[in-house]
Formats: sequence, structure tokens, C-alpha cells
Amino acid sequence: MVVEVPSTGHSWDGIEEYDNPLPRWWLWTFYATVVWAVIYMLLYPAIPLVTRATQGLLGTNNRAEVAADIQRFAEANAPVQAKLVDTPLDQIAADPELANYTANAGGAIFRTWCAQCHGSGAGGATGYPSLLDNDWLWGGTLEDVYTTVQHGIRDPKDGDTRYSEMPRFGTDALLDRTQISQVVNHVLELAGKPHDPALAVEGVQVFADNCASCHGEDATGDRAQGAPNLTDAVWLYGSDPATITRIVHDGPFGVMPAWSGRLSEADIRAVATYVHGLGGGE
Ligand code: HEC
Ligand code: HEC
Repeated sequence: MVVEVPSTGHSWDGIEEYDNPLPRWWLWTFYATVVWAVIYMLLYPAIPLVTRATQGLLGTNNRAEVAADIQRFAEANAPVQAKLVDTPLDQIAADPELANYTANAGGAIFRTWCAQCHGSGAGGATGYPSLLDNDWLWGGTLEDVYTTVQHGIRDPKDGDTRYSEMPRFGTDALLDRTQISQVVNHVLELAGKPHDPALAVEGVQVFADNCASCHGEDATGDRAQGAPNLTDAVWLYGSDPATITRIVHDGPFGVMPAWSGRLSEADIRAVATYVHGLGGGE
């Protein structure tokens, strides 16, 4: 039997819309979701008001649950954190409980606060040093790492920050273009890279006059000033001629934020111990 369904009267390009009723299963599902929504709105926080949402009859919300969880973990960790703060740095690794805590909590802190610059595996990136190797700018003892994390490097907000400033030899016209290309070729020679020998020879004197005070007479660096070793295979910014020229011309000025005030003393100790334990620690 053919049922004649009335038309809604809507027609597009000769295609007409029938006035069929909604499928029954669809309609009941729709009513069910409406009822569900009303019950849900009564039970849980739902309608945003000016300062907060309606609270719901159950008086529960995810924020409160998370806050309670955090509180619970904070209380559980409080004793070991207190012990960590009271233990001299050089004795932390010898205490199994602290060693375990710093490995786990320190790793979590690292992934939260440090990984965006140093990489999740701490392998570093251009301008951000690897913390896995034993090539340290400022020193690799636990004490050194702790100080670096606490006060940062060239952080203007921390009065005790580690500080040194490589001059901007080109920008500030301390060296002319010839001298820069001479010293760059000398650095390339030190690094065992392809270079122009004639320029490199001239660069020796430019280096002695302008660079040795920080990078050392033998260019192996100076940790007191965070000046990198220029004779090894590890490069913070890169060892190609263009990068070295840019560094000498513009100055590098890498900045690492200080963490005291942002992380608790226990957290700083935990993450410093974690970094120290990654393999390059001295
Ligand atoms: C905003 C980016 C940034 C973040 C975040 C950051 N660092 Fe750094 N970090 C740097 C830079 C840049 C340097 C190198 C600065 C320089 O040129 O001397 C550095 C250097 C270091 C050094 C010294 C390495 C050496 O060779 O002496 C340590 C240790 C270190 N960071 C640990 C951490 C830890 C631990 C955290 C997390 C709590 C962290 N950093 C977070 C940018 C960052
Ligand atoms: C006042 C100290 C100082 C002087 C002088 C200085 N440097 Fe530096 N140099 C640094 C510091 C500190 C860094 C790295 C940290 C930063 O600032 O990010 C650096 C980084 C570099 C780098 C990057 C190394 C890498 O691993 O990527 C090169 C190349 C370099 N210097 C070459 C020179 C040359 C060439 C001269 C002389 C013309 C010179 N520097 C003079 C302090 C100095």
C-alpha cells in the first residue's frame, strides 16, 4: 500500500520535502537526553553565574576532587620532602628513600618545568644545553647544578643569578668584519672544521686579545664565566661558519630562568639531584 505523505511545501530545484514524523526511537532518545540533562544540572555544578557556577545538590565537583587528591599526595610526601631539605646535598644519593624520591619526583618536575627548553630526555637543543653529557658550562657537581637551577643564568629577576656577558663584537663595533672573519676561522680551526688557513693565522692574535679572557688561552672554556669550550665536539649554538659569525657579531646571551620562588626548596633539590644523576654529573 502506498501511503501518501503530505509535503511541507518546501521545494528546492524540484526536490520536495516530505512531512514525515520523526522516527520513534530518535524521539524517545531525545526526550531521555532532555530528562538526563535536567537531572544532571540539578545534581552537578552546571550554570555559570557571575563569580561561580551553581553548585549542584551532590555538592561535588572535579576541582574539589583534584584539590583533595593533591592535598593527599602533598601530605604523604611531606615527611620525605622535609628530610630532603634537611639532608646535605652530598648525602642525598646515599639515602635509598631520598634517591628513590628524587629520581621519581625529580623526573616529574623536569618533565613539567624543564623539558620545554632542555628536551624531555634532557638532550638539549640549539641554544639549550644537553644535560646528559659531562660538558658543563657552569659546572656539573650537584652543588653547581643546584645553584644553576636555584638562581638561573642571566635571569634579571634574580640578584644572585649566574652572570657573564659575551660582548657583541660586531653590533658594538669592537671588531671589524675582517677581524671577525679571522677569529671565526681560528675558531673553526680549533674545532677541526674546514677553514681558511691564512685568515685563521691572523685570528690567533684577535682571539688572544678579545676572547682568551673568557674562553681561556687554550680556548677550553671557563666555568666561572659559563664560557664554553671551543675545542670540543659539543656546541651550544652550532659549529658552522654562519652560526659562529653570528654569535661573535651579535653575542649569544642565553637565559635560563631562576627557580627559587617558583619551585619549593624540596622540588629544586629533587630536580637538581635528578639532573645530576642523568649521567653527566660530577
Ligand atoms: C626557558 C628555557 C629554560 C628552562 C625552562 C630551563 N632551562 Fe636550564 N638552561 C636554559 C639555557 C638557555 C641554559 C644555558 C644558558 C647559557 O647560555 O649559559 C640552561 C642551562 C642549564 C643548566 C646548566 C648547564 C651547564 O652546562 O652548566 C642546568 C643544570 C639547567 N639548565 C637545568 C635546568 C632545570 C633543572 C630546569 C627545570 C627546573 C631548567 N633548566 C629549565 C634554558 C632553560
Ligand atoms: C666576557 C666573556 C666572553 C668573551 C670576551 C667572549 N666570549 Fe664567547 N661566549 C661567552 C659565553 C658566556 C658564551 C655562552 C653562553 C651564552 O652567553 O649563551 C659564549 C659563547 C661563544 C660561542 C658559542 C659556542 C657554542 O658552543 O655554540 C662562540 C663560538 C664564542 N663564544 C666565541 C667567542 C669569540 C670568537 C670571542 C672573541 C672574539 C669570544 N667568544 C669572546 C663568553 C665570552
